[in-house]
Amino acid sequence: MATAIKKAPAKAVAKKAVTTNVQKNSVKNGSNGIHKNGANGAANAAPKAAPKAVAGKIPAKKGTGSFSEVAGKYCVRDIKQAEEGRKLIEWAESRMPVLMHIREKYKKAQPFKGLRLAGSLHVTKETAVLVETFAALGADVSWSGCNPLSTNDPVAAALAKGGISIFAWYGNHEDFYWCIERTIDLKPHLTLDDGCDLINTVHEHYADFAKTQVIGGTEETTTGVHRLRSRAAAGKLFYPVFAVNDAETKWDFDNVYGTGQSTLDGILRATSVMLAGKTFVVAGHGHCGQGVAKRAKGMGSNIIITEIKATSAMKGILEGYRVMSMDDAAKEGDIFCTATGVKDIIRKQHFLSMKNGAIICNTGHYDAEINLAELASVAKNKRTIRPNCEEYTLKNGKKIFVLAEGRLVNLAAAEGHPSEVMDMSFANQLMCHISLAEAHKAGKKLPNQVIDIDPAQDEFIAETKLRTMGMKMDKLSKEQLRYINDYNAGT
Ligand SMILES: NC(=O)c1ccc[n+]([C@@H]2O[C@H](COP(=O)([O-])OP(=O)(O)OC[C@H]3O[C@@H](n4cnc5c(N)ncnc54)[C@H](O)[C@@H]3O)[C@@H](O)[C@H]2O)c1
Repeated sequence: MATAIKKAPAKAVAKKAVTTNVQKNSVKNGSNGIHKNGANGAANAAPKAAPKAVAGKIPAKKGTGSFSEVAGKYCVRDIKQAEEGRKLIEWAESRMPVLMHIREKYKKAQPFKGLRLAGSLHVTKETAVLVETFAALGADVSWSGCNPLSTNDPVAAALAKGGISIFAWYGNHEDFYWCIERTIDLKPHLTLDDGCDLINTVHEHYADFAKTQVIGGTEETTTGVHRLRSRAAAGKLFYPVFAVNDAETKWDFDNVYGTGQSTLDGILRATSVMLAGKTFVVAGHGHCGQGVAKRAKGMGSNIIITEIKATSAMKGILEGYRVMSMDDAAKEGDIFCTATGVKDIIRKQHFLSMKNGAIICNTGHYDAEINLAELASVAKNKRTIRPNCEEYTLKNGKKIFVLAEGRLVNLAAAEGHPSEVMDMSFANQLMCHISLAEAHKAGKKLPNQVIDIDPAQDEFIAETKLRTMGMKMDKLSKEQLRYINDYNAGT
């Protein structure tokens, strides 16, 4: 049933009506409500609201519904789903040979023995393989999700049953930071982030702890690395953090091919529309945008790129796409996907000029790219027409469909990236944490900076991946090496 969005002039009123409706629908769908602070809620801001843990006393969480919970150990949706989750993890393990190879290689050495690690990263089957690798190598691990809509509940149950301290469930809008706080209760030596929410919480609420007890950390995604670099530039980074996102074997593979495939997977699961013949607008032709555009083109869509960077726009032109402003693209698109990491890419003026039936989604890290509060202000009602697909009826009579509440559609409506590509990303995560642990054990203090990935690590990971795929490469001969370094060589 659609809920009327009345008294539209006041933004806040419209927003409230939408929230109520989503909560109603969430019960029906067994999915989720909206973030407590509204459509573009507090997950986009620094975690100012995070409650400070009181020693020995865990604050109550706000979420309703049933949970499987052991205080201080885990809180997941239903521990009875563990068996289903275990099978998913085994499936992922069989497709992550590099990570499994490194697990075997370091098993005897136990590089994390005596160390505690807290992680905040989408709880998928692939993440579970990483988490269990840390545990197999001696770490005491605690974990939370890094997005309210990206936890795979059976996988979370399997991790909890396997002894991991985990606080995560799908639809966790109210207790997002509560879960992060619970992972900090473990007093981690190492932090692992996807989007910087854990790093921010530790820095803003446990500054002394961050300065004195934490050895170092890692950051998985582009948006997180931006935040990290801003923090470092402001002189407010209290421990060294590796920019895992910027590794060649991460950024050029996970963001491009992983996001390309899984974003289309999410769009198709949420809509089942035909992509062939559609005009598909991709906002941001960076790593993720290039992947999405390539795959949508492969499915027969006509691509439009919107950009702010001339070289990224030019790359789109040479791929055969059209490039235009969002003001113009809004009138032409059938499907819109944002992939910029920047807020307010699709706004009121765009919703008003869109075609009837337009589908909008986001694959950037936060739910800030589509301004849903502005959409609500021009809508008269809204209903969930299928899981992860909300139909907004505008006051101008047109209908617009928003997928997965504007959160990253590939994780909220599908399963995230394929295991094969996460194999390389997570091998980077693991190798960086092994470096941090080894430096610590050798008594070395790394600078409190954002640390770039050693190209030798990229080479090791790519070579291992190729070997496990049965691929062979050529080797540079001595004569070729001499030739490329010979400044006198010519025609
Ligand atoms: N969905 C996923 O699983 C997934 C995976 C990896 C990264 N991400 C996230 O996706 C986002 C993009 O990451 P990336 O690695 O592609 O970054 P990137 O820097 O390679 O690309 C971003 C592009 O957006 C463009 N851009 C910036 N502002 C814009 C605007 N106002 N209009 C149009 N274009 C604009 C930039 O010029 C750039 O080309 C980040 O938030 C990142 O954290 C998501």
